[in-house]
Amino acid sequence: RQRVLSGVQPTGNLHLGNYLGAIRNWVEIQSQYENFLFIADLHAITVPHEPATLAANTYTLATLYLACGLDLNHSTIFVQSHVSAHSELTWLFNCITPLNWLQDMIQFKEKAVKQGENVNVGLLDYPVLMASDILLYQPDKVPVGEDQKQHLELTRDIVNRFNHFFAKPNQPVLKLPEPLIRKEGARVMSLTDGTKKMSKSDPSELSRINLLDSPDEITKKIKRCKTDPIRGLEFDNPERPESNNLLTLYMLLSGKTKEEVAAECQDMGWGQFKPLLTDTTIEALKPIQEKYQTVTNDKGYLESVLRHGKHKAEAIANQTLNEVKAAMGYSIPL
Ligand code: TYM
Repeated sequence: RQRVLSGVQPTGNLHLGNYLGAIRNWVEIQSQYENFLFIADLHAITVPHEPATLAANTYTLATLYLACGLDLNHSTIFVQSHVSAHSELTWLFNCITPLNWLQDMIQFKEKAVKQGENVNVGLLDYPVLMASDILLYQPDKVPVGEDQKQHLELTRDIVNRFNHFFAKPNQPVLKLPEPLIRKEGARVMSLTDGTKKMSKSDPSELSRINLLDSPDEITKKIKRCKTDPIRGLEFDNPERPESNNLLTLYMLLSGKTKEEVAAECQDMGWGQFKPLLTDTTIEALKPIQEKYQTVTNDKGYLESVLRHGKHKAEAIANQTLNEVKAAMGYSIPL
């Protein structure tokens, strides 16, 4: 059975971009794969963080994984910091990764500008940790949103470089993972600006819909979201990014096809479309929110899921780590 690996950072709430770009796709394909899905709490400290909420955010995210429909019969859920091999492999990869590869990463450059003086080494090293997350599990597929594409390319570059230095010809130590980026939903845009991606770090709460938003909050955000003065909605018109984004949300959340949505909305005014999108969003999130409440009330269950996940992940991760160390010439303790 082919293997899938992916993760999300536990920075506050999950939004529709995280759901439609990543988690929903994990859920949809999980029965065809062996899945390792984790909470990237080591990545979460590459920007200033609040110790008092880190653990709580990790639990919230694990609960959301279950609420979105991850099934433990197919998927192993674990916390990155619980498996120390992630940090250890990062060190080994650090020593074979050229500095300029990291300096050229788009997300590093964007985040570094925002951080100003406070750029730490971890922020630069973020993609190497991500390569370690992935390669420890030797996955076939890594389902992510569009914004992670460059990190996946760097991961593949590290594989090639590692095998080139340390593997025997035709006997690669590390396997090349493939990104799995769906066309629709891979880049959900902000509600307040259709040219910017929906993001956890946008200071405006109005820019995103969170999975745990109440019906009132969803109604308010969609009522106030950016539109344009043109009547009739359409996909794929570069002059109308908001129209494309909101129609795409409606399509994905309603389960209708692109053709159906295009036909249904081509003559609609915004005043008619907004309530439709609002109702569809509220309905789509309702089962997730209900399941979230059920799991939240059972902390013991969640802890047992993460404990089990740690053991299962650790066994695989440690095996890869030992293979990597052996290939690099380390003596492995007996
Ligand atoms: P993170 O936490 O920023 O985002 C989690 C997932 O959500 C996707 N995503 C989006 N998709 C569509 N539209 C958007 N507006 C949008 N915003 C976010 C992201 O592409 C991602 O799939 N570095 C990763 C976490 C990570 C990881 C990994 C992922 C760490 N190690 C190993 C895969 C494999 C991140 O920060 O995702």
